[in-house]
Amino acid sequence: MTVDLSTKYLGLELRSPIVASASPLTGIAATARLLDEAGVGAIVLPSLFEEEILNDELGLNKSLETGAGQFAEALEYFPTVEMLPGLGERYLANLAAIKAQSSVPVIASLNATSAGGWVRYAKLMQDAGADALELNLYRVAANPDRTAAEMDAADLDLIAKVRSSVTIPLAVKLSPYYSAFSNFAGRTVECGADGLVLFNRFYQPDLDLETLGVVNSLERSQSSDLRLPLRWIAILRPQLGAGVSLAASSGVHTGADVAKELLVGADVVMMASALLRKGPGHVRTVEAELRAWMAEKEYESVSQLRGSASAATAQNPSAFERANYMQTLHSWSSPEN
Ligand SMILES: Cc1cc2nc3c(=O)[nH]c(=O)nc-3n(C[C@H](O)[C@H](O)[C@H](O)COP(=O)(O)O)c2cc1C
Repeated sequence: MTVDLSTKYLGLELRSPIVASASPLTGIAATARLLDEAGVGAIVLPSLFEEEILNDELGLNKSLETGAGQFAEALEYFPTVEMLPGLGERYLANLAAIKAQSSVPVIASLNATSAGGWVRYAKLMQDAGADALELNLYRVAANPDRTAAEMDAADLDLIAKVRSSVTIPLAVKLSPYYSAFSNFAGRTVECGADGLVLFNRFYQPDLDLETLGVVNSLERSQSSDLRLPLRWIAILRPQLGAGVSLAASSGVHTGADVAKELLVGADVVMMASALLRKGPGHVRTVEAELRAWMAEKEYESVSQLRGSASAATAQNPSAFERANYMQTLHSWSSPEN
């Protein structure tokens, strides 16, 4: 039985629902090519960070000012900021190069915490050939003077600003740390998001007991991390409707993981940790596992499979919400029993 893996994400036709998530693998032309050859449906580049753009520009401005003060004719010698190959420019050049070599859509990523002049990079990414943009919102709500409502409003303002600066599709990559997630997800769509990527993986700092220093180590995910996006995609699929794209990110390592996310309503899955651990060729294994499972269960296509176990269609939809909490706790049996 032949299985049709094609899917639609952000209005783009993809040959496969397995997408390479933003990671160091996607930002290097050679490994991006290997991912393409291994069969990914799209490639998401690593993020260009708001702080990096700002630092870059601050540095440039400082050197321009210093130069101008020292030499009367300095302004003639110094190129304009646009002409200097800063970090932003290098990102755009890399994006154009990866786009030129790729047979699949290339999605650029902007990491942001606040709206600002740097938002113009969204348009520059579009001009450099990005097929879509992923806006990666990553913040820690540690300021006791800011309410959830204020922080949500700032995020929505940022989404609207990025939306108004580009015409290509826009996905918003979120963390799970919003007080009322369903409500916030709906409002991102009202502000112009064409899709959501659920979720960004929050890196938790550790403490070194010898030095008492804070250690920032990057823990890669495992399949059990899949459950967070699984629940939320199941809940959001019927709420947001079929017109809003949903991408599952976190804990996708195997074909079974992909099948689960598609069943609850994801249009695509995104993979980073598994590909970093096993290499770009792992995409072939995951695709083969997915095909085998679909053939065994007699699913002919991703579109036939997608959403058949969301909160609207599953046999026990309340399990995705609080109703299952008590049963889950009561179902525990200690290993000694
Ligand atoms: C080394 C590394 C670098 C990453 N860089 C980015 C990034 O630049 N932008 C982004 O949105 N996510 C980034 N991520 C997050 C991944 O794209 C992904 O959302 C997350 O790791 C969860 O997926 P996984 O379980 O498949 O790893 C990075 C992850 C890793 C492990």
